[in-house]
Amino acid sequence: MFEGNRKWVNEITEKDPLFFEKLAKGQKPPVLWIGCSDSRVPANEITGTLPGEIFVHRNIANMVIHTDMSMLSVLDYAVNILEVTDVIVCGHYGCGGVLAAMDTKPLGIVENWLRHIKDVYRLHQRELDAIKNIEARGNRLVELNVIEQVFDLTKTSIIQAAWANNKTLAVHGIVYDLKNGILMIWMQQLQMQMSCQNSTRLM
Ligand code: CO
Repeated sequence: MFEGNRKWVNEITEKDPLFFEKLAKGQKPPVLWIGCSDSRVPANEITGTLPGEIFVHRNIANMVIHTDMSMLSVLDYAVNILEVTDVIVCGHYGCGGVLAAMDTKPLGIVENWLRHIKDVYRLHQRELDAIKNIEARGNRLVELNVIEQVFDLTKTSIIQAAWANNKTLAVHGIVYDLKNGILMIWMQQLQMQMSCQNSTRLM
């Protein structure tokens, strides 16, 4: 890892000798990324961005839990201090957390975290149970989980206050496909709903 680090530093400074000097002065990333801890979904690499360009929060299955002080602190700092213009919840197909939530196996502490995804399943049980192929059902739960996390995100006092104060702040849900490396924005329906509800308090 140290060797890799030196190689990376050399590559960057070859292109821009002042890169680190400039970056050390401060950050002004336009985007907050809430993603999964999965090692295969690193925010900067998959979006071709550099250090300084994305503010990142990651946890198992990219969850937005209203009692999670870590997530709330990151969100508050991103929205009110860094003044990001976009918040992204990024899920990914084949998410181990989401797939584990579809199972009944005992998993220890993480079960308490996955409980929130089981709630998402219960909310959409009719649609999900009708999908007989397990992989397809898992993929749909990944998508529905992103939708629910986006809704929960918009319901936080932080986003509500930003919208009430007419801040430019968009919230997006996207899904990453591990099998081909492609990021997809497929939530047109949700985006429509969101733009209608931007100025009103969601239930
Ligand atoms: Co995952």
